[in-house]
Amino acid sequence: MSLQLLSDFSLLAHNTFGFDARARHAMRIDSVDAAVALATDARIANMPQLVLGGGSNIVLTRDFDGVALIVGMRGKRVIGEDGDAWLVEAGAGENWHDFVAWTLAQGIPGLENLALIPGTVGAAPIQNIGAYGLEMGERFERLGAVELATGARMEFDRAACAFGYRDSFFKRAGRGRFMITSVVFRLPKAWTPRAEYADLARALDAAAKPDAQAIFDAVVAVRRAKLPDWTVLGNAGSFFKNPVVSAPAFETLKQREPGVVSYRQADGQVKLAAGWLIDQCGWKGRGIGGAAVHDRQALVLVNRGGATGAQVLELAEAIKRDVLARFHVELEMEPVAL
Ligand code: EPU
Repeated sequence: MSLQLLSDFSLLAHNTFGFDARARHAMRIDSVDAAVALATDARIANMPQLVLGGGSNIVLTRDFDGVALIVGMRGKRVIGEDGDAWLVEAGAGENWHDFVAWTLAQGIPGLENLALIPGTVGAAPIQNIGAYGLEMGERFERLGAVELATGARMEFDRAACAFGYRDSFFKRAGRGRFMITSVVFRLPKAWTPRAEYADLARALDAAAKPDAQAIFDAVVAVRRAKLPDWTVLGNAGSFFKNPVVSAPAFETLKQREPGVVSYRQADGQVKLAAGWLIDQCGWKGRGIGGAAVHDRQALVLVNRGGATGAQVLELAEAIKRDVLARFHVELEMEPVAL
């Protein structure tokens, strides 16, 4: 198999921040066979490789002196069912939101809370995307991947993926080593709405018992109201994770800052709303050059036009310093910086 090796490739259309970085080379990988062939392709041997899906979780701070691998496997299908659930599979290059809409059109609910999240199906497990009371890991069955160094085809079940809050094996020990090629979801037949998240509950008609489509529509409406559309205003969604602190640390903080927005976790630790912390530090709407804090959601950094990845990271550092100084809480960046 001989794939086309592109040169001096613009990544502008391949990162949702809209940074005009370039890759020395690029290849479009549209099949599992093409992914397998990479390991024995002499043209790219020993070249740094960057696997790119929708580019919705990356901050490009420079040109990439290697080969960008643009993931393009397509296909969506119901692959089976048992008494409890449907199994639905999608190619890694499918657009996530289109896939969610497609499952509902098949009469299979279960992913509706994750509507309108930018990016591809293959990127979803890497950071275990989550929103409005649901994490992808809860609906995940397995994924197919190719190990870049060897071309070996592999399968990862839920345990192997080690999902956590915006976290997985693929952000840790597995980082940069695999190309995810397809993902299988297990969508339970016994569907119950997840509509407790405050913003979502408000958007739904309190009197009616919402169906999956109503939740999908409400999630889309809430996201459109709060989160910038990256095609208009470049961004990578939440720029920081919501930090998790110990119960004693939370009690100390709560005494000093009674208004702090928090969510107690099953293990007794407490998750803090990073957007609130940043907002309280007065950052909403402010920025450095073209890089700014979104004026409706302080957790989202945006490219107001002409920003560089370096400016976004500089802004992020300034925010981290202020939050640390005032709340003694360390923020952790969510997207990957290159
Ligand atoms: N808040 C403020 N000011 C702000 C932003 C938020 O006071 O500028 C307060 C809100 O009033 C609310 C709380 O912080 O009480 C939480 O805000 P929100 O409901 O907007 O959610 P979030 O915790 O900021 C998380 C996810 C989002 C996800 C939403 C909904 C993370 C890092 N972010 O945001 O995910 O859509 O919950 O579930 O967990 C993403 O990861 O890219 C993302 C957008």
